[in-house]
Order: sequence, then C-alpha cells, then structure tokens
Amino acid sequence: MTAVATEEIPLVDLKAQYATIRDEVRAAIDDVLESMQLTIGPNVKAFDHEFASYIGTKHSIGVGSGTDALQLAIRACGVSSGDEVITVSHTFFATVEAILYANARPILVEVDEKTMLIDPAAVAAAITPRTKAIIPVHLYGRTVDLKPLKQLAQDRNITIIEDAAQAHGALLDDGKKAGTGGRVNCFSFYCSKNLGAYGEAGSITTNDDRLAEELRALREHGQSTRYYHPVIGYNARLDEIQAAILRIKLRKLEEWNARRRVLARMYDERLAGSGVTVPEIPSDIRRHVFYTYTIRVGGGRRDDLRKYLGERGIGTQIHYPVPIHLQQSAEFLGYRKGDMPVTERVASEVLSLPMFAELTDGQLERVADSVRSFMKGN
Ligand SMILES: Cc1ncc(COP(=O)(O)O)c(C=O)c1O
Repeated sequence: MTAVATEEIPLVDLKAQYATIRDEVRAAIDDVLESMQLTIGPNVKAFDHEFASYIGTKHSIGVGSGTDALQLAIRACGVSSGDEVITVSHTFFATVEAILYANARPILVEVDEKTMLIDPAAVAAAITPRTKAIIPVHLYGRTVDLKPLKQLAQDRNITIIEDAAQAHGALLDDGKKAGTGGRVNCFSFYCSKNLGAYGEAGSITTNDDRLAEELRALREHGQSTRYYHPVIGYNARLDEIQAAILRIKLRKLEEWNARRRVLARMYDERLAGSGVTVPEIPSDIRRHVFYTYTIRVGGGRRDDLRKYLGERGIGTQIHYPVPIHLQQSAEFLGYRKGDMPVTERVASEVLSLPMFAELTDGQLERVADSVRSFMKGN
C-alpha cells in the first residue's frame, strides 16, 4: 500500500501544547535559573501546596517520578520482604516494579472485561494473610470503583495505594478526586500525562501527617534535618524547574481535561457502529479524564488497523501489548500464558487513538473516518 501524504496526527502533540504556554514557561524557567535554587526550593513547596489543594488532600509530596512515588509510598506503608501486594497485570510495568523494589511479592489479578480495570472479585479471591496492600490502577484516566476494595481491605489491615499516574483530575465514586482514596496515592507527571512535566516528576498525596513527614524525609535520603539521616531514604527529589512548569500547567488542567472529554464524546459518536468497541464511560459521578482514548478491535484486526492508520500519518499506541504476568523479566513469578484470559484478550485488542487537548475537531474527524474506512474493508 502506498502511503497517503497528509498532515501527521501524532498520538500526543506536546509541541501544540507548549505553543500555548511558551512565554509563561520560559519566564518561569528563567526565574529558577536566576535564583539558582534548583532543588526543593520555593517552587517545589508551592507546587506541593497547590497540587494537594487541587486534589483535596492535606499533603502532596513532590518526587522525581511516578515510579519514585510508588516506591516511596509502598515503603512508607510498611510493605517489606515476604508481603504480598495485589494489583493488575494490565498496567504499566512500573506499578509492579515498585512492589518488587520492596522485595514484596506482586499478586497479579484479572481486569473486568468491560472497564479493563481491576476486578474486585479477583482481588477478593487473591487475598491471603500475607496481603499487605492493594494497588488499584486508574488506567487510561478512568477511575476504579474503590468501594468494594475498601470493604475488602477494612478489618484486614490492608492498605490501599492508588496508582493515579493516569488520572489527574478524574473523580472517584464518592465524587472526590483520584488521589484521595487510598492511605497514600501516587501520580506520575511523565511528559505525556494529562499533567506532564518537561522531564521526570511525580507526587504522593495523603491526609496522614505522619506518613507525609516520613515521605518528605524518604525523598531526601531519609534526612530529618540536613545531614542527619534517621532512616535510609532515596534521592527522589522533585526539581525546581519541573515544579515551576507543573505550577503553570496545573492551572490549565481542568480546561484541558474538559476538552479531552469533549473529544472523547466526539470519537464515541463518530465511531458508533464502526465495528470497534469504544471505551465504556461510567454513568455515575466518576469522571473519566481520557489520558488515552483506547478502543478495542476484535477479530485479530487490531495490528492491521494500526498499520493502516500509520500509513495515513495517524499515530497510535498499544497500552499495553504484553501483560506484566507474561513479561520476560517477570517469569520468576511463575505465571503462564492462559492464566489471565481477560487480560490477555484485552492486551491483544486495545488501541489508543490520538488524544490531547489541542487535537482539532478536523483532526479527530480524519482519525475517525480512517478507522471507519478500515473497518468497512476499504
Ligand atoms: C499506571 C502507571 N503507573 C506508574 C507510572 C510510572 O510513572 P513514571 O514514568 O513517572 O515513573 C506510569 C507512567 O509512566 C503509569 O502510567
């Protein structure tokens, strides 16, 4: 097939977003450089305050990445060698890496077929006396219903840690924001996220004063005051330049998320009846923030559709092609192909289409038309 020459539509267009905030960002970076306060300075303090207030928790502890956030959160919750932590196999690898950093055992469970999120029945079946924590992952910007998980966790001394890396501004089933539901909750500000830094960054949110203090120490080599280290920590600091950029972007997040939701509705309408399965949208208060717009394509046609769109300059991604239980590095956990049929089917069918606040109606029409035309057999 010869490529059709048209404007490229990337999966995420970071340049288009930067164009809308360039002057502010440059001025903020300049201010940091003039001050030469490069780490844990006024911007980190202000961002921690502003992000906590946006999410609705007492504390936000800015760290170096979402992976740092998970690693520190798991450690601060007392998870250690021999403990079990339940999470999904259908997630980004870091969720499980962070469990392994604590020398704990990840217990990977199925997702629900419709939501593609953690299946509470599978969690219930996986609980043992060694279960120390459950990590629900709000994948694609859609929140997990935490109610059944909280019921399972209470009375058993099991901690819930939200992986909200893909859910900035999404709402939980109680109407509060993702990042308020667990004892500690983790965000990534990886560049492509709804709230993304221009490098690496993350945050942990919590209402627990003691844990917040511990996490602030852990992010800086476990020090209480400078050069006094009551515990062994990490270098997991958020830097001032990233914090300054995140402060600017946080002010736009609601507007950007609103546009993502409009785009998702447009995709839903234009793809209805095309033969692909559009994402299920919660009918209750839970607000989906569409970090990705991820469709399912059955009948073994997903990869051909991806190729077809690629030939037309349309960027797509598979989130995620190999479930964690089938990753080469996770072989030692002892899972086999066929252990999680729903997860494995989902991994073979998902395809994320271009989704970012600056995507134009016209670009979206072109993506949707191309999907329809492929599905019709053109
Ligand atoms: C679900 C999930 N968990 C954890 C992470 C890790 O975040 P980071 O890449 O900032 O370390 C990411 C993002 O990349 C993610 O999407």
